Amino acid sequence: MAGHSPATTQIAYNSPACDFLIMTVAVRSFAKINLGLYIGAARADGYHDLRTVYQTIALHDVIRVSAGRGSGIEILCNHPRVPLDSSNTCWRMAERVMDELGVHGRVCIEIEKRLPVQGGLGAASSNAVATMVALELALKKTRAVRKKLTGPARLRIAAEVGSDLPLFLVGGTTLGVGRGEEVYPLPDLPAMPMVVVTPEVGVSTARAFADWDALVQGGGTAEPHSAGGPGAAVPTREQLTRAGVSDRLFEVGCALSAWLSGYPNTGAPAKGGSRAGSLLSDLVRTGIENDFEKVVFPQYPELRDIKGALERAGSRYASLSGSGSTLYGLFRSPASAAKAASRLRKQGLKAVATSTLTRQQYWKSLVVSR
Ligand code: C5P
Repeated sequence: MAGHSPATTQIAYNSPACDFLIMTVAVRSFAKINLGLYIGAARADGYHDLRTVYQTIALHDVIRVSAGRGSGIEILCNHPRVPLDSSNTCWRMAERVMDELGVHGRVCIEIEKRLPVQGGLGAASSNAVATMVALELALKKTRAVRKKLTGPARLRIAAEVGSDLPLFLVGGTTLGVGRGEEVYPLPDLPAMPMVVVTPEVGVSTARAFADWDALVQGGGTAEPHSAGGPGAAVPTREQLTRAGVSDRLFEVGCALSAWLSGYPNTGAPAKGGSRAGSLLSDLVRTGIENDFEKVVFPQYPELRDIKGALERAGSRYASLSGSGSTLYGLFRSPASAAKAASRLRKQGLKAVATSTLTRQQYWKSLVVSR
């Protein structure tokens, strides 16, 4: 599978900070994309209700967690923009897991960063969930801990650390509602070939939500919407005002549901590759969109250009992921994805061909070594 092979590379493991820690577990921290993202009303707690379909993909970081005697949390990372203190989601996760299990010890977390920082691929959230999985396994190896976290406790802790974490405890195709933290496994979409383009720019999610509020308060779109087909979730000016946002979320819920059940195009989904093809057609026909494009593209016009470049390179469906800056395109075949990635690289873009990851593939390839 694309992006899987060199996962066991060691980074800085002989660091003095870590060398007395003996029980180490390495896990892959997979990225996600959003297949549509609809933003609703700003809530009293400062978050926004949303509807999205998360999809895990094969690109990943690698997280190595060591646990042993002592105290404190240490983070090592090969990327200068990743914080090494308690502001790191992995740190917060390790602290909560140790508390919940009632154990004391020293935890060292190595983040082998390959995914973009602030890229909209959920990397920091995925890193934190990978830390949870690896830390539980490492603690089990020390034999100091008999207790295991329950499924609901894992989901609760993940949601406390961030809205985009719980999806990584499900994997595959997942519906996200609430502030994105309330997740429901959906029938898995088949693995689909794709191209991921990672521009140099980082987009702040909090800022993108604030920009969305400004747009809604202004009472309209900054962007003309692309036309969808029957059942398309295309918000009108009225729907974007404060009064209309809840109704709109219901409508897009219906559109997402229709898309995922293959209605009205296909009826019962076909099997295997043809199913991927027809789902792709349904996705396009339904007009599934990412609201963040409406505030991020006007600020970073180069991102809109990259979406256009993906479409020109043959992508059947292209979109910003989360609040960006990553863009992805879905393709009908691995060969067409590889060809498109090569064409985009020739245009000076950082493009890689990969694949979406089903739930089964996700869990099967999560642990590198234990
Ligand atoms: O939950 P997380 O820490 O990832 O969210 C980062 C920021 O994004 C929040 O502080 C909030 O400003 C914004 N956010 C939001 N609505 C959501 C998710 C995040 O407004 N559903």
